[in-house]
Amino acid sequence: MKPYLSKKYQKFKRDELTLLIEPDSGKWFFSKDEGLSLLELCDGEKDLNEILDIFSSTCDGDPEAKKKDVEVFIKSLESSGILGDVKPNKIPRFTEFYVKNAWLHLTDECNLRCKYCYRDSAEAFDNELSIEEQKGIIDQVKELGHEETDQWIVFTGGEPLLKSEMLWELASYAKEKGMSCKLVSNGLLIDKEAAKKIKSLFGDVNVSIDGLKDSHDKLRGKGNFDRAMRGIENLIEEDVKFSIGAVMTRENLDDIPNLLKLAKQINAAKVLAAPVWITGRANSELMLSNDEIVASFRKLMSQAEEPSADNVLLEIERFFGAREITKIRPYGCGAGVSLVSFGANGDIYPCVTMHLPAFKAGNIRNDSLKDVWDNSPVFQEFRGFSIDDVPECEKCTWKRFCHGACKLNAYVAHGTIKAPGLYCKAYATLYEDAIWNYGARESKKLNSPPDK
Ligand SMILES: C[S@@+](CC[C@H](N)C(=O)[O-])C[C@H]1O[C@@H](n2cnc3c(N)ncnc32)[C@H](O)[C@@H]1O
Ligand code: SF4
Ligand code: SF4
Repeated sequence: MKPYLSKKYQKFKRDELTLLIEPDSGKWFFSKDEGLSLLELCDGEKDLNEILDIFSSTCDGDPEAKKKDVEVFIKSLESSGILGDVKPNKIPRFTEFYVKNAWLHLTDECNLRCKYCYRDSAEAFDNELSIEEQKGIIDQVKELGHEETDQWIVFTGGEPLLKSEMLWELASYAKEKGMSCKLVSNGLLIDKEAAKKIKSLFGDVNVSIDGLKDSHDKLRGKGNFDRAMRGIENLIEEDVKFSIGAVMTRENLDDIPNLLKLAKQINAAKVLAAPVWITGRANSELMLSNDEIVASFRKLMSQAEEPSADNVLLEIERFFGAREITKIRPYGCGAGVSLVSFGANGDIYPCVTMHLPAFKAGNIRNDSLKDVWDNSPVFQEFRGFSIDDVPECEKCTWKRFCHGACKLNAYVAHGTIKAPGLYCKAYATLYEDAIWNYGARESKKLNSPPDK
């Protein structure tokens, strides 16, 4: 076989290193300048021996030792599929779909009126589901799980603790069925009793905190930082593991680094920070620019990596960290693929952020979940989604990592999920950063490609 590096590899140089990435396959590796001149010789015309002879004659040092090094390099590129014809779009897609995460809204009622609430929560719907109907959802979700994969029921709202009796009963029901339970709460109603219940029923609890007192209260209402922190104190007293969820907006962006420090002090398991979704009550005045997102994520990533903050996993790492860039995924997010969300009135949607008329796939009072999951046009659209069908993304270098990112953001920006998201430019920069950061961490292994 004659070694061949596809001309489709794009090159990005920083200092003495070059990142080579092929957008269609998502394959990438780093090379030093010496490796680049070797790769020039991999044109599909010369065999390995010719390449070794030409290359070693141009290098200083012992030619035989050089040949050995070069041979190892070329073989490793061949075995990881980097050398050879590029086979675009051959990422295996799922053929069967299982529910991994089901979001249950117990009520749309809320004791807060946060400025940005994507649910626009305030009063309860007048046709909310009963406990028995919610149990019926849990039964049907269970049926659509995969025996080897954990299933999570996420209890949210509105404020789920306004329906605390229902919450405890449903969580124990799901737990008895072997499912894991997660709670998302504004923290206000977490008293000592609630903290005890949470400890016994939930594998994960996320309390929403958007910064220190001033910025939290600006977004979530006066006095609510102290009230939410009392809830957290009750969790701490009962030794409950908890995470913090923060929404990043124009009004609190500068305070997120302080929140990370607070999270460390109070021993939060992690901080999930995400840019505000522009839907529901969130208006575009709260929206961050792409430059603001890049600047603040860069700051947070370096802060999260400081030894002093090492017990706080900043969840944005999930999207722009080694875990994501070293494996190629067939889908971007789980919406409609492994995730389903139920409104408090039983409406069925592919994602918790997309409770919008265009994405309503059915209602649990009238439809079987299996039928909706298998056959509804909405769910089919999400499963049929391929980034290669999005004209603006098809040629993008980072498309195999990004997959267009959040589909709600694409819909908000362009009225279709087949479009780049609102934060496209930021994501492109952050994926590039993530690969370079990975490269820096793995620099000892340079000139051998990462294990994919
Ligand atoms: C709708 S709330 C329901 C649970 C509970 N009331 C609470 O606030 O935690 C679920 C989560 O979504 C977050 N959230 C609300 N509106 C958002 C938006 N426009 N963009 C991003 N996250 C948002 C909240 O901060 C909260 O962490
Ligand atoms: S974000 Fe949560 S606490 Fe705030 S209004 Fe919405 S449902 Fe209520
Ligand atoms: S949304 Fe932007 S970064 Fe993502 S694949 Fe499309 S063009 Fe690339």
